[in-house]
Amino acid sequence: MQEITSIAALREQVAAWRRAGERIGFVPTMGNLHGGHLALVDEARARSDRVVVSIFVNPTQFAPGEDFEGYPRTLAADCAALKQHATDLVFTPPVEAIYPDGPVLRTAVSVPVLNDILCGASRPGHFVGVATVVTKLLNIVQPDLAVFGLKDYQQLLVIKHLVRDLSLPVEIVGGAVAREPSGLALSSRNAYLSEAQRAQAPVLYQTLRDVAKRLAEGDGDLAGLEAEGLARLQHAGLTPDYLEIRRASDLGRPAPSDCDLVIPAAAYLGRARLIDNVQVRRP
Ligand code: PAJ
Repeated sequence: MQEITSIAALREQVAAWRRAGERIGFVPTMGNLHGGHLALVDEARARSDRVVVSIFVNPTQFAPGEDFEGYPRTLAADCAALKQHATDLVFTPPVEAIYPDGPVLRTAVSVPVLNDILCGASRPGHFVGVATVVTKLLNIVQPDLAVFGLKDYQQLLVIKHLVRDLSLPVEIVGGAVAREPSGLALSSRNAYLSEAQRAQAPVLYQTLRDVAKRLAEGDGDLAGLEAEGLARLQHAGLTPDYLEIRRASDLGRPAPSDCDLVIPAAAYLGRARLIDNVQVRRP
């Protein structure tokens, strides 16, 4: 596995693979890799000849006061895991390579409406930071396909929309949510949970599954289901940010004729902000 930090060296290697007619798969990450990330690497591996993984804790998607400085950085363990998953190249650019003028956005990629709702409402600027760095990474690597996790459903939609709107020549693949046996979605931020909080956290997924079940059974009282879900999270000791029933295609509010739905939710538990979602098709 090659470990490359410079954009020029990365471009040279990828260009050589491309000249040889090889198909390039790409998985962008912020490191501290767990089974969810590694499943995306396996997905890319299965669909391409070469797999590139980036590890870059992107400063522009963290608001002041968020956990940019404290975000877990575990490069040696990450590289060891990536080798086990047949990664060809890990790209770990320094901040100055991605933001030569400092980590402030001037030219930026914004995906209106999607940017500003749900997680975007609680984290202003977050998705502009994500959309901009992902656009830059896609332009640097120029992969045939890139894999993103369905765990971050809104992020995946932001990326699908920007790729379509900017005509970027890349296929975006969504990878299934990897979970602990308790149902808790794997996340680097689970490291912030105490043992007691780890026992509380699975209620998020349990609640989403129960709301999904009621929708699938034909319950049409969306506001009532949302309110019940929020109350359950609160009762379990979480501080919910939102739990909403939305249209799966664009996270808009569903019309009665919309059957493909998603229930995204976010809740604070101690230092962690947990997010999760469940997709459901209603009758
Ligand atoms: P990060 O949080 O490191 O996640 C990298 C990728 O792993 C994302 O596509 C995310 O959706 C996916 N992922 C995380 N946990 C997962 C789980 N339990 N199951 C399946 N996939 C999971 O998301 C980011 O980094 C950044 O915003 C990034 C896209 C790299 C831009 O900076």
